[in-house]
Amino acid sequence: MRKNIVAGNWKMNLDYEQGLSLFSEIVNMVKDEVVGNQEVVVCSPAIHLSSLAKLSTAKVAVGAQNIHQAASGAYTGEISASQVKSVGASYVILGHSERRAYFGETDALLAEKVDAALAHGLKPIFCIGETKEERESGEFFAVIKTQLEQGLFHLSADAFQAVVLAYEPVWAIGTGLTATPAQAQDVHAFIRQTLVEKYGQEIAENTTILYGGSCNPSNANELFSQTDIDGGLIGGASLKSRDFLEIVKVFN
Ligand code: G3H
Repeated sequence: MRKNIVAGNWKMNLDYEQGLSLFSEIVNMVKDEVVGNQEVVVCSPAIHLSSLAKLSTAKVAVGAQNIHQAASGAYTGEISASQVKSVGASYVILGHSERRAYFGETDALLAEKVDAALAHGLKPIFCIGETKEERESGEFFAVIKTQLEQGLFHLSADAFQAVVLAYEPVWAIGTGLTATPAQAQDVHAFIRQTLVEKYGQEIAENTTILYGGSCNPSNANELFSQTDIDGGLIGGASLKSRDFLEIVKVFN
């Protein structure tokens, strides 16, 4: 059975003490609220990871927001998968639309980052999603299929099972414009069908597919009750412990 995950993406927010304090609050607040086959993940700036991982629990894991594709070497300012893993993090967000748009990350580069993550035991939260123009032109299914094929479909069925997917329509990120539950479900069903065709029914059914994009306590319930939506990748609302808690509680 696939896991339900509520993952927070803090992006480049919160200084060290603020991060520590928010994470401690989250761990305490959600400890009795993470039920059944559910996990909470907090993806913090890299500088917080080591300290947060020490406070992490079986119910609240820690993840990075990016890694470099190389194992090690002369890449000033970069952080490797093994370094992230070595401080106790277990996830890494890859292919977030902000990385694609502002840092020129291509599907080919992301495929290498996915390999680096998996080689060091990090679970990728792999983000895909269309821009506003791609939504309006109707070509979004093709865009999403290409992102899956080029970023992930080189993986063997075995390797793919460590991957979590996040559908994040770019036009819904940080804009307050959430995809409607029906729009999100349509794309999630399409993603799962694409996985069926590539990896078969069982693996597709076991893959967690998150929704991200202006998800908040008011819309999470309806979004997460869709058949193929298994949780959320939460930006802004993950910076407020009460809002994040309300979203986590949707699975109770
Ligand atoms: O990774 C999270 C997404 O970019 C969503 O961000 O919830 O602030 O729209 P948001």
